[in-house]
Amino acid sequence: MNLITQDEISAEIAAASTPGGPQPRLDFGPYRSSLLRHPTKDLRHADPETIELVSPVFGPQDVDPLEADLTIQHGGEPIGERMVVTGRVLDGDGRPVPHQLVEVWQANAAGRYIHQRDQHPAPIDPHFTGVGRCLTDADGTYAFTTIKPGPYPWKNHRNAWRPAHIHFSVFGRAFTQRLVTQMYFPGDPLFALDPIYQAITDEAARDRLVATYDHEVTRPEWSTGYRWDIVLDGADAVRFEAHLDEEDDA
Ligand SMILES: [Fe+2]
Repeated sequence: MNLITQDEISAEIAAASTPGGPQPRLDFGPYRSSLLRHPTKDLRHADPETIELVSPVFGPQDVDPLEADLTIQHGGEPIGERMVVTGRVLDGDGRPVPHQLVEVWQANAAGRYIHQRDQHPAPIDPHFTGVGRCLTDADGTYAFTTIKPGPYPWKNHRNAWRPAHIHFSVFGRAFTQRLVTQMYFPGDPLFALDPIYQAITDEAARDRLVATYDHEVTRPEWSTGYRWDIVLDGADAVRFEAHLDEEDDA
């Protein structure tokens, strides 16, 4: 495979990053697969109630509170930095969005997913699957216990690495209102090099995808803590990905 270099991609990012709206660019050239995957036709409007009859279900059972702990899904402790990620799901007026499904998926501490298409030579952790879900409480709060994911390589260009991130999906009141985004960690040195992160050309909007280290969430002798609020609309809204294709997602 003849891949272009990070320097060339970085130059493309700089050229493409003209000031724009806070939403991710749908056809952001440096993010190669976005060119093929974004909608090119007008969206089709669907009746949510009809769609619900044939849509996938969330799972065969109700959400169990234990599903919010990604470190207890197997017979032993996963390797890595144990941490709690918590925050609130809020609407544009700052009101909590209660009792909503929040799903996460992520790589392990070595930056490896359990996925057929992730074959890079980092170890699979037999004690870590990397998926979890929970419901927000009456105050709109979600919380996950997990392991800090590692950065990982992908094939956008030569020596391409994703900043460490956790994928988030939130549901509104219907399956058709699903929104998908990624949460990042403060100070990641890969931010400037990452065409997915940089596909949001508004710096303030990019910053809202970065969690805050919170010592109040950190638990003594147990785990570090991060806080990340998800604002669904309005000026402070978190920006969501333009597609729902997870199989290919980096
Ligand atoms: Fe990812």
